[in-house]
Amino acid sequence: MALTSARRWSDLFAVRTRAAAGDGIAAILGVLANPELISFAGGFPDPATFPAERAAEALRELADAGDASAFQYAPTQGLAGTREVLAARLEALQGRRPAEAELLVTSGGIEALELVAKSFLDPGDTVVVEAPTYLGAIMAFRGYEAEVLGVPLDADGLRVDELEARLAGGLRPKLLYTIPDHQNPAGVTLAAERRAALVELARRHGFLVVEDVAYRELGFDGSALPSLWSAAPDVVVQAGTTSKTFFPGVRLGWAVGPAEVVAQLASAKQTTDQCAGALGQRLFELYASRGWLDEQLERSRALYARRCARLLAALERELPAGAAWTRPVGGFFSWLTLPLDAEALALRAAEHGVAVVPGTPFFPDGRGGTNLRLSYSMVGEELIDAGIERLASLL
Ligand SMILES: Cc1ncc(COP(=O)(O)O)c(C=O)c1O
Repeated sequence: MALTSARRWSDLFAVRTRAAAGDGIAAILGVLANPELISFAGGFPDPATFPAERAAEALRELADAGDASAFQYAPTQGLAGTREVLAARLEALQGRRPAEAELLVTSGGIEALELVAKSFLDPGDTVVVEAPTYLGAIMAFRGYEAEVLGVPLDADGLRVDELEARLAGGLRPKLLYTIPDHQNPAGVTLAAERRAALVELARRHGFLVVEDVAYRELGFDGSALPSLWSAAPDVVVQAGTTSKTFFPGVRLGWAVGPAEVVAQLASAKQTTDQCAGALGQRLFELYASRGWLDEQLERSRALYARRCARLLAALERELPAGAAWTRPVGGFFSWLTLPLDAEALALRAAEHGVAVVPGTPFFPDGRGGTNLRLSYSMVGEELIDAGIERLASLL
């Protein structure tokens, strides 16, 4: 409904909201709402991994102990116990423990990205992203009117040589955003030698690397390459999340990076939520400190590894010559390249009971017209074959 006969609400919306950040995520969530579909669309963790019983047990304990901290406002930096658990995990898993001033507890990974965008970006600033990349990150950077520029990736992750050439040609980004492990949407992992080269470029040219580790702990064999932050804590902010390893209902994550940067993020957080929810922080603290998180991770890795193997076998069997796809070793996604218009295919697939996401929203510049993202994280094994058969029948 219009505000007055002469004015629509959208006339009052801030100019920055018109940057066509995209309704992409909302559209994907909309597709997911149809329970009839075999859906390779959403990047959600499977509810089978959610620790309902143990979360209930931990909550009961907190309530019985009369522990008000779980129900009270928390410090902006996060509760002491939660910070300790996160710092200890970073030390155990990445070989580096953040100093007190280098760690901020956030409301999920997306808030960490929003805080970075809010802290660094003026209208017209340049942010380099992998092309394709996580749609939420493109939206966060565009939300502050940045120019988002894509540098391609291949089976070994971001083309750091291509980035180097563009920097040599005069490109001056403030930020470079990367998802080095089991990337969303491409399912690829940044090779070790490219990691070293990337942080050297950041040091030489003076930009901040924003490292998103959303899927890092979901390598199928449990292994991971050195994180960018552990290799170069002077030029990297790492955005982490418990959404894929614990459960997204708590909206919990972290940012670690140079103390001066983290202080700026904490300042920006005063007007997002002031503090991440204390209840989720305390649940996570109890859950992780008892070793339950590591047990859950083991089960999750096995589940997603099985599904991925099933998907790759089905693609091998069903897809015609000319189709190509990535072979993930962790995370939720494989990325398909087809010799045809993938958007039209995605629409036809939905009519035939299969949901897939076309590639274009994952690019900042309209490319991706022949790509599809396939997420295997939430498709029951028995449905994966049927879904890929239906998709292949349309090719
Ligand atoms: C690469 C990447 N980063 C961040 C997020 C956001 O996660 P969170 O639930 O922690 O906000 C996602 C979620 O899909 C993601 O895929």
